[in-house]
Amino acid sequence: MKALILAGGKGTRLRPLTYTTAKQLVPVGNKPIIGYVLAHIHAAGIKDVGVIISPETGSEIKSYIRDGRQWNIKVTYIPQAEPLGLAHAVKTARGFLRNDDFIMYLGDNLLYHGIKDAIREFRKQASDALIFLKEVENPRQFGVARLDRKGNIVQLIEKPKKPPSNLALVGVYIFTPKIHSAIDRIKPSFRGELEITDAIQEAINMGCKVKSETLTGWWLDTGKKDDLLQANTVVLDEYIKRQIKGKADGKSQIIGRVTVEKGAIVANSIVRGPVIIGKGSKIKDSFIGPFTSIGDNVTVISSSLEHSVILNNVFLSGIERLEDSIIGKGARVVRNQNAHKALRLMVGDDSIIEV
Ligand code: G1P
Repeated sequence: MKALILAGGKGTRLRPLTYTTAKQLVPVGNKPIIGYVLAHIHAAGIKDVGVIISPETGSEIKSYIRDGRQWNIKVTYIPQAEPLGLAHAVKTARGFLRNDDFIMYLGDNLLYHGIKDAIREFRKQASDALIFLKEVENPRQFGVARLDRKGNIVQLIEKPKKPPSNLALVGVYIFTPKIHSAIDRIKPSFRGELEITDAIQEAINMGCKVKSETLTGWWLDTGKKDDLLQANTVVLDEYIKRQIKGKADGKSQIIGRVTVEKGAIVANSIVRGPVIIGKGSKIKDSFIGPFTSIGDNVTVISSSLEHSVILNNVFLSGIERLEDSIIGKGARVVRNQNAHKALRLMVGDDSIIEV
C-alpha cells in the first residue's frame, strides 16, 4: 500500500498565517500538523509516500519533509499546478500510484487513532474503498454522508446546503485503483473542483463496494482559527509530558505537564500546563495558562496568556490577558505607553484584532 499526502491548496481560511506558511506547516503543540500525519504513516508501516505540493508552498513543504528519512519513508513530490480539487490531485498522482491500493491523507487533518487499525480493517473487508465519518456540529462545511439503517452509504454530498445527516467525511480515505475510473467520469463541482466526494459517489453508482466507519476518537481539521486552537488544545492534552530541559528560576512555579525546551528560560513566572515553551524562549514576570503553545525564541514579559498559539520569534510585553489567540511569526504585541492610550497598529492583511 502507498500513501498520498495532500499538501497543496492555498489555505485561504487560515489567512494571514498562510500568506507566509503552508497551512500544513502551521504548528500545533510546536510541531507542524503534517508532522503528525507523517508519524501516523510511519506507524502504519507505509514506506512509499507521494506528497502533492503547490507552486506557492511546495518548496517550504519540501524543506520540512526532505527525503523522508526522519520517518523512514521514501518520498516522491508531485506538483499540482492549480488547486483543482482532491480528485484532481489523485489524477495528478496517477503515475506515482500506478495500480496500487493507497491511503490518501489530507495534510491538515489529524486523527486520534492514526491509520494503522484503519488499514487492517480495510484489508479484512476486501472493499474497493473505505471512508471515515465523524459526527460534527457544522456539516455544511464538509462532505456529508447519508447512511441507511444498516449503515450502508446511500449518498455522499460535498458542502450540502441542507445536510442529510451530521456525518462528515474525514480527510482520510483508503482506495483501490478502482477509484481512478470513477474520477475519470466526474465533472467539476459548483466550486470548480473535482471533488473526491463526487468520485466516491460515482464509484458507488458504478457498483463498487464502498464501506464506511464512524470514528469515536477525535478528528481535527485544522483549516480555520478556532479549529486550530481546538487542535492545539487536544494535542497538548494528549501528547505533552512534563519535561524541563531549559531553566526555571526559584521564583517560578511550573505546574503539571509543561515542556520547557532546551535554552528556554522561565523567570519569576507561573506556568500551568499543559503548555509547551520552545527553544530559546524567555518568559519573565508572566503567567502562562493551560493550552498554550509558545514557539522558539519567543519573549514574554509581564504578560498573562492562555489557550493560545504563539509562533516563533514573537515579542509580547505588558499584555494583561491574552486568550484564544494565534500570533504569527515575528509579531510584536506590546502595551501602549502613550498618555492618551490610542491604539497603534501595523497589522498584516486579513488579520483579526478584537480590542
Ligand atoms: C475536504 C473534502 C470534504 C471533507 C474535508 C475534511 O474539504 O472536500 O469532503 O469533509 O476535506 O477535512 P475542503 O477542506 O477541501 O473544504
